Amino acid sequence: MSFSVPLWPSRSPFQRLGLPLAALAGALSVPTLLPAQATRTPTHTRSGIQLSNHSVTLRIDALRADVLRVRMYPIGHPAEDASWAVLPTSRKARISVTARPDGFCTDEVCVAVSRDLRLTISDRAGHVLQSDALPVEWGTHGFTVSKTRTDDDHFFGLGDKPGPLDRSGEAFALWNTDSFGWQESTDPIYKSIPFFLEMHNGRSIGVLLDNTYRTFFDFGRKDPSQYSFSAPAGPLDYYVLYGPEPKQVVEAYAWLTGPAPLPPLWALGYQQSRYSYTPRSQVEAIAARLRRDKIPADGIWLDIDYQDRYRPFTVNPVTFPDFPGLVRELASEQFRTVVIADLHIADAPHQGYLPYDSGIAGDEFVKEGGKNYVGAVWPGPSLFPDFTQQCTRRWFGSLYKQFVDDGVAGFWDDMNEPAVFTYPSKTMPDDVVHRIDDPEEGFSKRTATHLEIHNVYGMENSRASEEGLLALRPNLRPFVLTRATYAGGQRYAATWTGDNLSTWNHLRMTTPQLLNLGLSGFSLSGADVGGFGGSPSPDLLTKWLMLAAFQPIDRDHAAKGTRGHEPWVDGPAQEAIRRRYIDQRYRLMSYLYTAAEETSRTGIPIIRPLFLEYPHATADNHPLDDDAPGEFFFGPSILVAASPLPDDVAPYEVHLPPGVWYDYWTGARLDRREPLGSQDLELRNPTAKGEPRLAPLMVDPGLGDLPIYVRAGAIVPMQPLVQSTKDKPDGPLTLRVYAPEAGDASAAACQGDLYSDDGTTFDFRHGAYLRLHITCSVAPNGALTVHIPARKGHYRPWWTHFRIEAIGFNPAQSRAEFGGHTTALERTRLGYAVTVADRGAAQSIILE
Ligand code: GLC
Repeated sequence: MSFSVPLWPSRSPFQRLGLPLAALAGALSVPTLLPAQATRTPTHTRSGIQLSNHSVTLRIDALRADVLRVRMYPIGHPAEDASWAVLPTSRKARISVTARPDGFCTDEVCVAVSRDLRLTISDRAGHVLQSDALPVEWGTHGFTVSKTRTDDDHFFGLGDKPGPLDRSGEAFALWNTDSFGWQESTDPIYKSIPFFLEMHNGRSIGVLLDNTYRTFFDFGRKDPSQYSFSAPAGPLDYYVLYGPEPKQVVEAYAWLTGPAPLPPLWALGYQQSRYSYTPRSQVEAIAARLRRDKIPADGIWLDIDYQDRYRPFTVNPVTFPDFPGLVRELASEQFRTVVIADLHIADAPHQGYLPYDSGIAGDEFVKEGGKNYVGAVWPGPSLFPDFTQQCTRRWFGSLYKQFVDDGVAGFWDDMNEPAVFTYPSKTMPDDVVHRIDDPEEGFSKRTATHLEIHNVYGMENSRASEEGLLALRPNLRPFVLTRATYAGGQRYAATWTGDNLSTWNHLRMTTPQLLNLGLSGFSLSGADVGGFGGSPSPDLLTKWLMLAAFQPIDRDHAAKGTRGHEPWVDGPAQEAIRRRYIDQRYRLMSYLYTAAEETSRTGIPIIRPLFLEYPHATADNHPLDDDAPGEFFFGPSILVAASPLPDDVAPYEVHLPPGVWYDYWTGARLDRREPLGSQDLELRNPTAKGEPRLAPLMVDPGLGDLPIYVRAGAIVPMQPLVQSTKDKPDGPLTLRVYAPEAGDASAAACQGDLYSDDGTTFDFRHGAYLRLHITCSVAPNGALTVHIPARKGHYRPWWTHFRIEAIGFNPAQSRAEFGGHTTALERTRLGYAVTVADRGAAQSIILE
């Protein structure tokens, strides 16, 4: 049903001229046009509004109360309703809205359209969330959407773009590019994720520009009073996601594009890689040394040299004899094997190379001038699968069969920008033709040039891998690592930041880069530990291994010709530090896995900027991260405070959000509630006169120290050390209970989650999981009661006992009561502990 509300009586100047806008653009030969004032009566639809001027139609639909879709197109020529990024169910979702003369409202936001088709989106209290600074510039050279901006606007996301976490004042182009040795100023690099999150005055919105061409984002570089996004071609189709809290925006984005699925547990373990471990005996030696030196590790990665003449889906029979035997041997040492499997198929006719032969037989490759396009990559002249065809993805996925039969666990999709050794473009020509055949995503069967497909090529490559692996082993969670991708690519693969360098600056850059990737859907991401190009100094490698222990993917990788990066290469003292941090990661594995499971439901990333957990930590609502660039949350409760300048040996400031915190290493309590003196306050924050501000903490860590804090009220599961996630931990599961702030007598003064399952299959979908939401409360006499609820799910975990360890708690009687027993508390290095059987049922343990 649709109905009309009379809107603007007056006629636009262009209408008075009687000229269609497109004609005007041609006549004046200007690249862009401002839409004339709307002249037609707006149509209020059930889910939004639609209105036109003489040349374009603007259509806005509410998909949910907090998610709007905005489209503009030449009158009578709507773009096809299709997307590689947005889930079909979300794209088609609609809700009923309340019409207003100039727009409409949902329960969360109101939309107003001005006479010249400018949009203003406000919350229900009237706070403007986003408004067009100008009418859309629209013409033969694409479009530009400009929004008003102030210096209080903060921008995040946009995938792997280097630079500071807050992208305000910067401008970016999105075009997937093989960028060996990228620097802070390099743009574009590998990925195109046209999604950003904006925070203004404590209110957050998100924008996904669903356009796969080379798009541009300017967050106030050209004109500080505006931010803009533009594309040279393709649909003007964007989604606005309302918070007001940033977590709600991230969750809405996960609803729109799908969350990253639950990875296999082993993918969260330490991964050892290099370009390349070869021959087979070197792989065996690396594996043996990891075990001998007791460096916990789960994955050994084989780079292109295991292949026959660099041909994907082959194995060099001379350097890697009995490949299945090697995979079995590694598995017997509790290692998973991961192999690189690039997309380029060697142009090798009549040589019995199956990927070539079957690819030619099925006509699976992209075309140029009617013939298969040939470009040079590692194997020399190569052909490129047309991943925009469902049938090609299926064929490509089937190529994994032999590796899957051999027991290979994970796959690494590299060079999929796609990289071609052609300079300067480093990719295939713009006129290469793809034959889209993907009805599920809404696309009609048609051809498209590489200009349209380039940015989704890598994502569709990783999709072919993921879907192929699922077809080959339906009840095993696939693990694919991709270098290039687009919005929504998190559904198919984890990612890494490509060819970084062994420099201190690159170590520093990993934090903002991985945080922005997490906000852009890619929770499972990592950077080559130690840096890919170049040889890290011993201290740099140590600091990198320390930090990476708290990043979602922890993969040590190095380029050819560089010195070794393995943890032992710099002697026992450095190795001991490195081991200690990898050990911590394994002790925290249940916590890390629980965070990964949270991502798979909500999209909330494993590592998080401070503003995601504490959006209102500062008096003027600027993100606390702007003051603390080395800091981030690892999961919901652990704050890692690395130096903002890691090569600087001077002390540095740690900014903790307000509240009580504990030192992760010592258990020391830090009360961060006392404000600074008013003099200090004015000095630091002149705009926030009179507001309480906290003095930063000064820290001066040595080489082996990384300051880490846990928020009061957190319950953090920790497990006995293992050498691989395949090993069964021996002993109880520890629940570290960090005493809540004094005076918090609520029933859930502290809380923490625990998720577990078999780590590899999809049986969790049928109830074979375990989920606990553990809470605690504090009685007026100071006794601490930990409530363990009845288990959800029927998975039987490895532990039989819980060890409750309370930190920051001073017992009056040093005893614990549970199930009718009383027992003495054990004094530990960090606090007090008691071990109780996990009866699988609800129980309360009182520490007093
Ligand atoms: C690319 C990848 C790198 C890999 C190399 C050889 O440079 O980014 O990780 O080691 O190719 O396959």
